[in-house]
Amino acid sequence: MEKGNHTLKSVLPKAKELVEQMSLEEKASLCSGKDFWHTKGIERLGIKSMMVTDGPHGLRKQAGDSDHLGINNSVLATCFPTAVATACSFDRDLLYEMGMALGEECVQEEVAVILGPGANIKRSPLCGRNFEYFSEDPLLTGEMAAALISGIQSNNIGASLKHYLANNQEKARLVSNSVIDERALREIYLTGFEIAIKKAQPWTLMCSYNKINDIYASGHKRLMTDIPRGEWGFGGAIMTDWGAMNDRAEGILAGLDLEMPAFDGASDQLIVDMVRAGKLEEKLVDLCAVRMTAIALQAEKTQTTPYDAEVHNELARRIARESAALLKLGNALPADKHKKIALIGEFAKVPRYQGAGSSRISPIRITSVTDAFDAENISYSFAPGYSSASDEPNEALITEAIGVAKEADVIFAFVGLPDSYESEGFDRTHLNMPKAHTGLIEELIATGKKIVAVISAGGVVNIPWRDKVDSILLMNLSGQNSGYAAYDLLFGDYCPCGKLAETYPLSLTDTPSITHFGTGGNIEYRESIYVGYRYYDKAQKQVMYPFGHGLSYTAFTYSGLKLSAKKMGDRDTLQVELVVTNTGKWAGKEIVQLYISAPESTVFKPVRELRDFAKVELQIDESKTVTFTLERRAFAYYNVNVKDWFVESGDYRIEIGASSRDIRLHDTVTIESRQEGAIPDYRAAAPGYYSLLQPGTYDIPKEQFEAVLGRKVPQERSPRPFTLNSTLGEIRVHWIGRMMNKQIEKSTMQMFEGGEGNSSDIVKMIQEMAVDMPLRQLGMLSQGKLSVRMVKGLIDIMNGHILKGIRGLMKK
Ligand code: BGC
Repeated sequence: MEKGNHTLKSVLPKAKELVEQMSLEEKASLCSGKDFWHTKGIERLGIKSMMVTDGPHGLRKQAGDSDHLGINNSVLATCFPTAVATACSFDRDLLYEMGMALGEECVQEEVAVILGPGANIKRSPLCGRNFEYFSEDPLLTGEMAAALISGIQSNNIGASLKHYLANNQEKARLVSNSVIDERALREIYLTGFEIAIKKAQPWTLMCSYNKINDIYASGHKRLMTDIPRGEWGFGGAIMTDWGAMNDRAEGILAGLDLEMPAFDGASDQLIVDMVRAGKLEEKLVDLCAVRMTAIALQAEKTQTTPYDAEVHNELARRIARESAALLKLGNALPADKHKKIALIGEFAKVPRYQGAGSSRISPIRITSVTDAFDAENISYSFAPGYSSASDEPNEALITEAIGVAKEADVIFAFVGLPDSYESEGFDRTHLNMPKAHTGLIEELIATGKKIVAVISAGGVVNIPWRDKVDSILLMNLSGQNSGYAAYDLLFGDYCPCGKLAETYPLSLTDTPSITHFGTGGNIEYRESIYVGYRYYDKAQKQVMYPFGHGLSYTAFTYSGLKLSAKKMGDRDTLQVELVVTNTGKWAGKEIVQLYISAPESTVFKPVRELRDFAKVELQIDESKTVTFTLERRAFAYYNVNVKDWFVESGDYRIEIGASSRDIRLHDTVTIESRQEGAIPDYRAAAPGYYSLLQPGTYDIPKEQFEAVLGRKVPQERSPRPFTLNSTLGEIRVHWIGRMMNKQIEKSTMQMFEGGEGNSSDIVKMIQEMAVDMPLRQLGMLSQGKLSVRMVKGLIDIMNGHILKGIRGLMKK
């Protein structure tokens, strides 16, 4: 495949020229949107307005009413598998192809920038939006994001890498403060963005809603300018998430180019006024205008061409197939098409294939498993077994399902998480499937028949019955053609080859962030770098399924590990070579993982970290050599004393695994490092980061976290006096606040009447989000009907400054 990626580099000089011809008002106008989904143009200079819209696993272009929560309709588009699935493919080429297809759909729909991919780390399996994110591992996250972006941009469509940064939970995402130590920030939370930016140069980066170490992302100069532009060479523009702008002037100082969406033009005027008053340097506004103009100029080069929906539908099937992970092989798979098959579970007919919120798109077509079986003339009997309308087991449906199951040779049981369980806007509180699903499975197990469980979910789920079923196939949320993908795998037409991009822990209490997740206010990332397998391995916790786990119908052997050197300097690269052989009875693909285990030190380190991976396709008896090139960074950790990546001298174990807990080959390279600098040592102040073997839930004491953080955890924001950042929940103590809450709930509910979303999850999302919605967002929510001035007036009144408030409300 010919690969390309159109970046903004070539249009920057022309953009600068044009900006020199602009008035201050024109430049400021480019710093916020025209409406919900468009940027502004400047007609006299030939700069066109552009459409930017969601993303990330399909196009969500709204032709009618606008919203950013998946409420109103959008044009039909191919629904590809979501990131939770695609990450399990560990396949850069596949993600590039998916990006190309997304780009083609944008081209046809005249969308200039698609809002995605999301590169947030799965800090906890509870995050309601994990289905939109790739992994608990930053390298995998970055590589998948980079490939998708390059594919999108190969069509001259911009990508928007989001949600930058540390938006790792949905609870209170608009006001929370992610408190993270510098090393975890660098090694875990920034790395995925860094890889994607360096490799793919997205046209835009989208800042998140939350604060990171006490500063709102939209005003965080270090995170918006110094690191991405200064250190990584990011050349694109930065936009806000929808309504994430905290303070427009602070945003300009930080390097935040575009405020989205627009509602009343007040911030453009504010920029002009501040420049005129000498409070803001005009050259900073120029920089934003240049970056926005560059995007507009580049976008103009796109030529509208139609895409082939059939081809995209087939691609969606292939991606879903390559992304499914066989968690347990047992002896029921691959199944025989000619045996008596029972399809049990509503998901077989009404699939769960995408998540809820701003990424919810209207698919061109949905192929369920029953559709695929019908099309392929496979005979089967079907029983829904549960109703997605209720969590509780339905005796009548179960009895019917058992009747059907008893007549069959093999049962395919379709279970998982319904829509209402996970969404943008709220987090899960447990990892269980509904009782209606587990109850059904338990009854099916009691029939003694062969059972294959097929799981559809956007994140980790408890599978307490895993030892009692024969086989388990994890489809995740696998897009509009998920039915055909399951069909391809269940009968062995294709070998499953996906591997888990996140650990399946044995229980929620085993997860390292559990005691500091889901709070509002300060979210203390006390576990530091111990996220996902970095924690489970160090703590020697048993897990349900480890990171990188996934089985196949065929078998692979690993041999012949060769390192290009046994000794090297810290600036040298290392070539690693090995041979993989397909020794089984099926053609298949294997994902080979390379981990490095660093030498012990005075600074704490994980047991192993993923440093590269490759996917190899092998016919029966075929062998292939896999080669990895390891650069300096693969051996480095972030040293806060020298404020840089640091390679220590010592023995590094190179491990080749079929999963993080199935290391097949290993060897050692000794590094003699010339890098100088003091190595951090927290052994006395924070011993909890060195030995993680204590039983029970991992919880680092606050003083130890503060030792690593290098400062005290900040005070929580006081609820009084009320400010623009007070939440709707907080103002409920005042009668005006209660009135506002009622009115807002009423008008938001009206927004989705007639929308296409599943109303139960939308109602839940709106209610959960409203409590934590800051008052500064009301302007956007009311689409300009409630101006900032009016909201400030109401805040004054609630603070007891009644006359001032009334004057504010009345002012023109
Ligand atoms: C989401 C973004 C999305 C935006 C626009 C926000 O609610 O966090 O991911 O791109 O809305 O729909």
